[in-house]
Parts: sequence; structure tokens; C-alpha cells
Amino acid sequence: MLEIQSLTKKFGTLRAVDNVSMRIPDGAMVGIIGRSGAGKSTVLRLVNRLADPTEGKIRFHGQDVANLKGKALRDWQANCAMIFQQFNLVPRLDVLTNVMLGRLNHVGTMRSLFRLFTDKERMDGLMALERLGIEQTALQQAGTLSGGQQQRVAIARALVQKPKLILADEPIASLDPMNAQLVMDALKRINQEDGITVVCNLHTLDTARKYCEHIVGMSAGKVIFSGGPNDLTTDQAREIYGAGEEFNEAATSTSITTEGASAEIPDEAEDEPMPSGKVVNL
Ligand SMILES: Nc1ncnc2c1ncn2[C@@H]1O[C@H](COP(=O)(O)OP(=O)(O)OP(=O)(O)O)[C@@H](O)[C@H]1O
Ligand SMILES: [Mg+2]
Repeated sequence: MLEIQSLTKKFGTLRAVDNVSMRIPDGAMVGIIGRSGAGKSTVLRLVNRLADPTEGKIRFHGQDVANLKGKALRDWQANCAMIFQQFNLVPRLDVLTNVMLGRLNHVGTMRSLFRLFTDKERMDGLMALERLGIEQTALQQAGTLSGGQQQRVAIARALVQKPKLILADEPIASLDPMNAQLVMDALKRINQEDGITVVCNLHTLDTARKYCEHIVGMSAGKVIFSGGPNDLTTDQAREIYGAGEEFNEAATSTSITTEGASAEIPDEAEDEPMPSGKVVNL
């Protein structure tokens, strides 16, 4: 269980996160939605301690993680894999090396400095790439991959980290609809098969409804909705997005199937197969 209690983060006078509480059971997949500036990224950064809370508690399996320091803090951060909108790969390094950089928290400084990984670590990296259907890219420079492929490399890197939590900050915001689906399918499969808790910031409501069993809606630093996808009414969605009567859920859509979505599937969809249901080979 990840327990967040009365969590507040102030920047000057701004309460970016304002008295937020939530309890996330192990193995859950939770979506945090809200308009730009609502505080979604700050919540994730507080959980993995990239930022320090001004007030409040964060506990994981009963351990107080809000006040960890030194090695205990590094161990906690190794347990929280981050996935970012911009992938954060090292573009000039090959894909497999990028994946194994996920082991940095586990191997010694000298070994990591010289990128000396064992055969077992390389094999684990390859297997992670295979689960994500991109093992054929292992020796390619990461920067030459498509966005969707790069994000799956980032997920493979998270997997070899063997995390207890995956914190994904708008993982599909830079992707076309087909790649967005591939990446969300991959996160969901990992959540279900490995039992890793996934907390995912999403701009789009339909994605949160489709993939997350629990949705948290934030506005101006506060949680203003918490419940299942079916509990979220159009009026509540309007409030979360600060929208008026004209609000249309499809307008926040990235789905390739949602009616009214403006997204197009490119003719030449890089070298990915066209999606037919679940296409990621996990
Ligand atoms: N390091 C910082 N210094 C000052 N203000 C910050 C800092 N980080 C975030 N903020 C402010 O805190 C508020 C919440 O930011 P945050 O990035 O968490 O929002 P968000 O919901 O992730 O938005 P987006 O959807 O645009 O990513 C914003 O007003 C932002 O400008
Ligand atoms: Mg953000």
C-alpha cells in the first residue's frame, strides 16, 4: 500500500499540491488526471522524492519515505521507476545499454561508469525488450527509434530496475494514437502480469477510463475526484478540466477508436504492425 496523507508542496506562496491524501493498494493501476498546472507531476515527484514535501506523509508498506536520506533514499528511488513524456534515453547509446542503465541503482559505481554489465544483466535487458516487442532494436542507437519505440525502451529500462512502483508522467503525451495504445497496453500488461503498482498522469480522460481501475482528478493542487471510471460523471470531468458546457470528452481523446477523435493513423506507421486488439508481444 502506498499511503499519501495530507501532502502539501509549496513553491513560494503557490500550493502546487494542496493537502492531498490517497491510498493506493499494491498492484493497482491509478490514473491522475487534471488540466495543466493541476499538480500531477509534482505529486509523482514527491512520491519518488525528486522533490521534498512541505508537509504531509508518504508511506510505502508502512515505511516513511518522506524523510529518507542517503542510501535509504537511493534504495527507495530504485524502487520507483519513472517514465517521462520525453523518454529520457541517452540517444547516442544503443538500446540495450539504455535498458541496462536501469540497473544503475543496483550495480557499483565503477561497473556502471564503464558500463560493465554481466551476461545475466544483458540477458535480462534483452528479455525485457522482447516482452515489449522491440528486441530487434537492441543494437540500434536509441535516438534513431520512433517515439513509441523509445517509450517502450524506457519501460524496458524500468522493468530491469525491478521496481515496486512505476510512476509514469504523461507517458503518451508525445505519441500518435497507435503508439499511445501500444505503450498503455504495455504498462497495463506489466501491471497485471508482474503486479507492479502503476501511477500514471494522463491528460486524456478516455485513456484513464480505459486503462485505470481508479481515477484521481486534480485541480489547483487539490484532489477533487477519486473513484472508478464509471463513477466519473461528465459534470465532474468538466470541473476537473475547468471546462464549461461545451466540454466534450472526445476532445480529450487520443483513442484511435473514439468517435470524434481527430487523431489520424499515419499510412506508413514506421515499422510497427497495425494494431488489431492487443498488439504488444508481452
Ligand atoms: N520547481 C518549481 N518551482 C516553482 N513552481 C513550480 C515548480 N514545479 C511546479 N511548479 C508549479 O506548480 C504547479 C503544478 O505544476 P505541475 O507540473 O505539478 O502540474 P501538472 O499538473 O503536472 O501540469 P502539466 O499537465 O502541464 O504537466 C504549476 O503552477 C507549476 O508552475
Ligand atoms: Mg506535468
